[in-house]
Amino acid sequence: MNTPKRYTITAALPYTNGPIHIGHLAGVYVPADIYSRYLRLQGHDVAFMCGSDEHGVPITLKAKKEGVSPQDIVDKYHAIIKQSFVDFGITFDNYSRTTAKIHHETASEFFKTLYDKGEFIEEVTEQLYDAEANQFLADRFIIGTCPKCGNEESYGDQCEVCGTSHNATDLINPKSVITGATPTLKKTKHWFLPLDKHEDFLKEWILKEHKKDWKPNVYGQCKSWIDDGLRPRAVTRDLDWGIPVPVEGGEGKVLYVWFDAPIGYISATKEWAEREGKNWEPYWKDKDTKLVHFIGKDNIVFHCIIFPAMLKAEGSFILPDNVPANEFLNLESNKLSTSKNWAVWLHEYLQEFPNQQDVLRYALTANAPETKDNDFTWKDFQARNNNELVAIFGNFINRVVVLTNKYYDGIVPKPNKFTEKDITTLSLTRSYPKKIENSIERYRFREASQELMNLARLGNKYIADEEPWKVIKEDECRVQTIMYIALQIAGCLAVLSEPFLPFTSDKLKKLLNIEDKSMEGGYVSDRYIKGITWENLVDRVVLDNFIIPNHKLRKAELLFSKIEDSAIQAQLDKLEATKKINEAEEKIVEPQKDTITFEDFTKLDIRVGTIIEAEKMPKAKKLLVLKVDTGIDVRTIVSGIAESFTADEVVGKKVTVLVNLAPRVLRGVESEGMILMTETQDGKLVFVNPSDANVANGLHIS
Ligand code: MF3
Ligand code: ZN
Repeated sequence: MNTPKRYTITAALPYTNGPIHIGHLAGVYVPADIYSRYLRLQGHDVAFMCGSDEHGVPITLKAKKEGVSPQDIVDKYHAIIKQSFVDFGITFDNYSRTTAKIHHETASEFFKTLYDKGEFIEEVTEQLYDAEANQFLADRFIIGTCPKCGNEESYGDQCEVCGTSHNATDLINPKSVITGATPTLKKTKHWFLPLDKHEDFLKEWILKEHKKDWKPNVYGQCKSWIDDGLRPRAVTRDLDWGIPVPVEGGEGKVLYVWFDAPIGYISATKEWAEREGKNWEPYWKDKDTKLVHFIGKDNIVFHCIIFPAMLKAEGSFILPDNVPANEFLNLESNKLSTSKNWAVWLHEYLQEFPNQQDVLRYALTANAPETKDNDFTWKDFQARNNNELVAIFGNFINRVVVLTNKYYDGIVPKPNKFTEKDITTLSLTRSYPKKIENSIERYRFREASQELMNLARLGNKYIADEEPWKVIKEDECRVQTIMYIALQIAGCLAVLSEPFLPFTSDKLKKLLNIEDKSMEGGYVSDRYIKGITWENLVDRVVLDNFIIPNHKLRKAELLFSKIEDSAIQAQLDKLEATKKINEAEEKIVEPQKDTITFEDFTKLDIRVGTIIEAEKMPKAKKLLVLKVDTGIDVRTIVSGIAESFTADEVVGKKVTVLVNLAPRVLRGVESEGMILMTETQDGKLVFVNPSDANVANGLHIS
């Protein structure tokens, strides 16, 4: 496309049934924020839009489970999510929500326009119905086997294993999530978006026009859907939580959440424009606007096929220029999961690592799942901080600021004659804005973050090689030049780090005394630092007009601090505890037996005893014949424990004995009581001792 006049950047609206975790951040919000901040630094007109996705079945299910209303659920998480984004430095121009009035109006209107234009197929079809719960089962209310990959836990609208999006009636062996019942079929009327009708356009637009500039993972998914053949998709549902279907016959029905949610980008833009006194329309309708959707890979079909088909059918909207979807991030080798609490939650991170937003931003960017799924580990997080942010970036800046203060009272010295090395170092420094720009323009944020670190590395190596602390003793003039050059690198880092490490960039600009911006509730409103922008940074460095001689710095302050092993261990322990809880929940425990009275209980005579003799019962694999001192007598007990213990092992053991059990003859030997045992999960018998680490809660004593 031609040079865009403005940018509309969207980040997937998070579902409001839980807080934000690192998977969301790495996949969507951090790259979208880097891109938006970068564009603003370039001086572009940017509308960065997001908001809460508050309709849909997962929210209804969560509300049911907690015995509250869906509105209560979305109010709670909307507040948590919105605040955590602000605290993390995500600079949305607007963070809206799909329960907002403006969104209900915008989505209704959009639906009506398509309806009036005859863009829908209206059809009575048989849909899955749960007679017990008295409701239709759509999307996440239904679970069954995916017709494509065989995953037995596919949802009605999408399989999370293979990513296929399908109709609920396509599932094999469907089961209701509400009652577990096998659904019946019941007739109901719905409106369908005939994707097949848009197939030619989608082929042309994606497969031809965007073959080169869309990421291979995105292009590949689109191609496979198109190749499979597109079919009409229902865009309405028989549910009661959502936006009412605004046409005749739509009573009691709502818009499909994936129909209304992406329209949320548009309503958020309208809301923002109203507040700012702007016109929203050019941001969505002008051909010179570049629209970019940041999403995770499970959202590709909706943003590349369904939403564009909707926009195209409506007729007055532009289409996305790119959809740089990321793959998934795992946590310590396991899939991130909101329901299993397997996550690093943003709001918790912000509390547990105060003022360390940039460390997480950096670790997630440096290890972003851009081309394949990736793993977040706390060890890597620590290493990124200690070995890169502290040891390279922070160390360099600290040396520069401390030494300038020490030698020159904080005043930037005038350089003298440049050596070969100085000239190379300066010209290398000048190449970084373009390098980083090239990576960002191609949505390679990981590579861009590494280039930024390379610039810090260049500075760190320069100062380590030049050793001003030694040279100062013999050649005072030379040190002026060294410090001057190091300061230029520091200045570039202050500007170029802003998209990636905005909090650090602010601190650094303060140290260098070049800040000139106002932070309003975490929102960076002024993109100029005394006239320095990304674009003219190179020229400034070239013209020696950046960190100029006689400019005075402030006192040194550390940008980063080391993260100790204990802090990492605490996080690993937290995950370990989660794992334990999940395992306990997954374990199948026999249900409790019928209630007995206290009188029933007092009938049992249980005593402490000691095994004083033991021998194997001949020709019986499982039986040991024991002589047990019960305190009242010594008696014979036949016990079925020979597969777990040898006779020698048990002699001398203290045991619990049920002494008034009616005697029984086993293989000709009369057994007068029973030793209480329990069986561990791997089938081994142990004497009753609940503090034994192998004995789990819920195990039977028998
Ligand atoms: N809530 C969806 C998810 O978390 C994303 C919605 S994106 C939008 O997967 F386009 F619908 F807004
Ligand atoms: Zn599947």
